[in-house]
Amino acid sequence: MSTANHRPIVYFVIAGLLCASLTLNVFTYSRIRRLQAPAQSNAHSYYSVTPADIALAATVPQLPLTVQPATLKFVFGEHYNITKPEEWASLIPPHDGRVRLGEGAEFGVGMYQDMRCLDVIRAAFVRMRDTGSTERDERAEACFGHIRQAIACTADITLEPAKVKCSKDEETGKVVCPVISAVATGNRVDHRCRDWNQVRAFVEENQKSWV
Ligand SMILES: *[C@@H]1O[C@H](CO)[C@@H](O)[C@H](O)[C@H]1NC(C)=O
Repeated sequence: MSTANHRPIVYFVIAGLLCASLTLNVFTYSRIRRLQAPAQSNAHSYYSVTPADIALAATVPQLPLTVQPATLKFVFGEHYNITKPEEWASLIPPHDGRVRLGEGAEFGVGMYQDMRCLDVIRAAFVRMRDTGSTERDERAEACFGHIRQAIACTADITLEPAKVKCSKDEETGKVVCPVISAVATGNRVDHRCRDWNQVRAFVEENQKSWV
C-alpha cells in the first residue's frame, strides 16, 4: 500500500519539524536571557531593559494635544550660558514636566525628558571642565541616546546658510561673497517648529489637578 510506503517519510518530516522548533525555542530563550542579563547584573544601569519595561513601553498612550506650528529664531550667546543652572531649570516645568493621564498613571513628556537630559549633560560638562574630574556620569552618557533620537525624530529641515566673506573686487567694483566655510553657526535663522509654549501650558494645567 502506498500509505504504508510513505509513513517513514512522514515520521522523518515530523522529527525534522520538532528539531527545528526546539532549536528556535532554545535560541529565543537565550535571546530573552541575554536581554534580561544586564538588569540582573546591574539594577541601576540606565541601559538595562526588563521584559516588564518592554511591555509597559508598548502600552503608552498619546498626549491628548494637537500642537500648533510655531517659529523659533535660533539665537546664541544671550541666554542659557552653561554656567547658569537657574536659566536651564526655567526651561522645565515642575516635576520634570511630567503629566498624569487616565487613572493617574504618570508619564514624562519627550521634550522635557530631552531638556532634562541636556541639562544633565551640561552639568556633567561644567563639572568635568571646572574640576578636571574624569569620573563616569552614566546618566549623562545615557542622555546622548535620548537626545540623538529626539533630533532624528523631529527631522528639522531648516536650512542654515554657509559662512561667506564679502569683499569689494578692486577691478570691477562689485561686491563678491564667496563661501568660506560650509559650517555656519545658524545664528538668527528661523526654524519651523511646534508650539513649545502650548505643550508647557498643557503640562502646567495637567499638574493643577494633581493632589
Ligand atoms: C558664558 O559665560 C562666561 C562667563 O560669564 C563667558 O565667559 C562665556 O563667554 C559665556 N559663554 C557663551 C557661549 O556665551
